[in-house]
Amino acid sequence: MLYLLDTANVEFIKKAYDLYQVDGVTTNPTIISKEKRPFKDVILDIRNIIGKDSMIHVQAVSTDAEKIVREGVYLKELVDGEVYVKVPVIPQGIKAIKILSSRGIAVTATAIFTPQQALMAAKAGADFVAPYVNRLDNISADGVKVVEQITGLFKTYNLKTKVLAASFKNVEQVHKVSLVGGHGVTVNDELFEKLIEHPLTDFSVDGFINDWEGQFGKGITTLEA
Ligand code: E4P
Repeated sequence: MLYLLDTANVEFIKKAYDLYQVDGVTTNPTIISKEKRPFKDVILDIRNIIGKDSMIHVQAVSTDAEKIVREGVYLKELVDGEVYVKVPVIPQGIKAIKILSSRGIAVTATAIFTPQQALMAAKAGADFVAPYVNRLDNISADGVKVVEQITGLFKTYNLKTKVLAASFKNVEQVHKVSLVGGHGVTVNDELFEKLIEHPLTDFSVDGFINDWEGQFGKGITTLEA
């Protein structure tokens, strides 16, 4: 499963890339605007940190196909390397996805709330589709079920489009997406670290260190014992 960071916070991105096996970064206009810095600087800083081989997903903000395509061509050139242009699945967006994919520009179809939107985006040539799990859960529409149905449809019709589930508020939602075969998740900085936290792990590690130090002394490792 792919793990991506749904943030533009460069300090967190640095930290996460150092510690974990991270597959990329996703942004959206809201995430970018939180940084309160010029768009270009934010995106190019992220590219510098993650390297050219790691995915970055950047959203176009136009709502007209021709302009979305122009943004897509610009973003591909600006960001360079593994870049996916995020395009919302409005009708003009689907048209833009068709054009961008026919020009060899990778696309992530975003703002997906139904399996039919995902299927239409995949048919138009999207490389990824991003269903919004928590926003669906908030309206009692079962986000994980939607992810499951989309992955099922892609299998049934042998589509190469991958499901990058997005919009998470808790670890259980992420876990359930992995159980139903979502190809990847994009998780915000606050939640990402919670994926690995467990008080019993910390308790166990503390116990091991305590017992070891009781026998061999503080600061002594297996290299010296
Ligand atoms: C992904 O494409 C979206 O930008 C993002 O995950 C939405 O998350 P939110 O519902 O927490 O804003």
